[in-house]
Amino acid sequence: MMHYIIRPMEHKDIPQVVQIDREAFPGEWVFRSQSAYERDLENPSIRNIVACTKKERRESGERAVQLPWFKRLFGHERQLNPSEYIVGFSGFWIMMREAHLIAIGVRNGYRRLGIGEGLLIATIELAQEVNANVVTLEVRASNVIAQALYKKYGFQVVGRRPRYYSSDGEDAIIMSTDNITSMPFQASFQQLRKVHAQRHPELLLQIH
Ligand SMILES: CC(C)(COP(=O)(O)OP(=O)(O)OC[C@H]1O[C@@H](n2cnc3c(N)ncnc32)[C@H](O)[C@@H]1OP(=O)(O)O)[C@@H](O)C(=O)NCCC(=O)NCCS
Repeated sequence: MMHYIIRPMEHKDIPQVVQIDREAFPGEWVFRSQSAYERDLENPSIRNIVACTKKERRESGERAVQLPWFKRLFGHERQLNPSEYIVGFSGFWIMMREAHLIAIGVRNGYRRLGIGEGLLIATIELAQEVNANVVTLEVRASNVIAQALYKKYGFQVVGRRPRYYSSDGEDAIIMSTDNITSMPFQASFQQLRKVHAQRHPELLLQIH
């Protein structure tokens, strides 16, 4: 079975992240270039994470590095194996006590595997750690798939930004959670997280 890890983004991930960004957000990625991601990684107000697996195809003739069991056990694999394949990313910035989701994107061919949901769970967990009490985002009015994901996690429509997307003038819907530290939110979030972990034991969160 393929295993996936969700972990903080590192500089070496950026070329693959930019590739996914272009694919997932045609027309919008121009704002999130390689250099913009480089800057974001140095910005303490921005948190970026990735979902990755090991490359399935050996496109450039490289060979997967097989590590001894003790290195795998103690988590050295991530640092040492150069063939991590990034399949998704997300990021948010923090302002006061609000975490603002910048984007979640999953590679074509890796969607509907629970990766987008795993990235959202990790984002909400990190938002709690930085003492945010609400998560907000903008999403295209036509993007019912992403809206379904956000609604599943308690996001509600709180506004609309007309012609927000300059590439085609589409409106953005503003969505927001209730207080993520509140008992009702936490009860529902922990339940969803548990169900997700049971459905996707192949997906591990290593966000610290
Ligand atoms: C939105 C996106 C991140 C979802 O990622 P994903 O890994 O395919 O989603 P998951 O498999 O984790 O699905 C989680 C939930 O999302 C919703 N969802 C995902 N794909 C869906 C689809 N094709 N139709 C309806 N709902 C869908 C469902 O609520 C699903 O929960 P369920 O499995 O209990 O039904 C992915 O489709 C994507 O990258 N889209 C392009 C970029 C984008 O629109 N990003 C969001 C705006 S910032």
